[in-house]
Amino acid sequence: MSKGIFISLEGPDGAGKTTQIGYIREYFEAKGKEVLITREPGGTAISEKLREILLDKANMEMADTTEMLIYAAARAQLVAQVIKPALDQGKIVISDRFVDSSIAYQGFGRDLGDQVRIVNLSATAGLEPDLTIFIDIDPEKGRARIGKESLDRLEQEKADFHRKVYEGYKQICESCPTRIMVIDGDRTKEEVRDNITDILDTFFGGLLGSDSSK
Ligand code: TYD
Repeated sequence: MSKGIFISLEGPDGAGKTTQIGYIREYFEAKGKEVLITREPGGTAISEKLREILLDKANMEMADTTEMLIYAAARAQLVAQVIKPALDQGKIVISDRFVDSSIAYQGFGRDLGDQVRIVNLSATAGLEPDLTIFIDIDPEKGRARIGKESLDRLEQEKADFHRKVYEGYKQICESCPTRIMVIDGDRTKEEVRDNITDILDTFFGGLLGSDSSK
């Protein structure tokens, strides 16, 4: 059984997850906790190689099922090599994306449906985040925040793909109301941060004890 805390961040491309993960790290470190940040796909040597295959614009012929399985393979390696051991050591693990991304992008975006959940049950050995923060931003607005030249294979998909992913996310959020907290991402980064801080206090304030910075 794990002793640590596992948090994932989700949202459309350009939602601002990376900035908020930095703030979440500061929140826990101020309380004297050891924090590990991982990103998906990636986070191990093997998973980073798989990330290159997934995001490479040259791989336009990739079949949807291949895509689902490579994301799951990258995740299986990350869970086994990094996330599970860190949780066993009592660390706070923050993952930039996790299974919900596959359900939204591959399950809904690519229309692969429920098999995505089943494949990922195997990839994660059933590990679920204690808390998932979904940064809610309209996909068009999110995409507009990303520099045009830097779009990867997934990001350069058409607007209707990103709309399907977004609608998928909405359904996932509705079906997991106790695990997933939805945050309005269409605000300043400080406002989003303060909202997330309140959620962290509510979820983990009791577990973490008093603030050592006081
Ligand atoms: P990410 O590195 O989070 O991109 P960014 O930091 O630019 O938001 O994710 C890369 C892309 O991979 C992103 O477009 C979402 C997609 N993705 C999936 O399609 N399925 C998955 O399971 C994951 C983890 C990501």
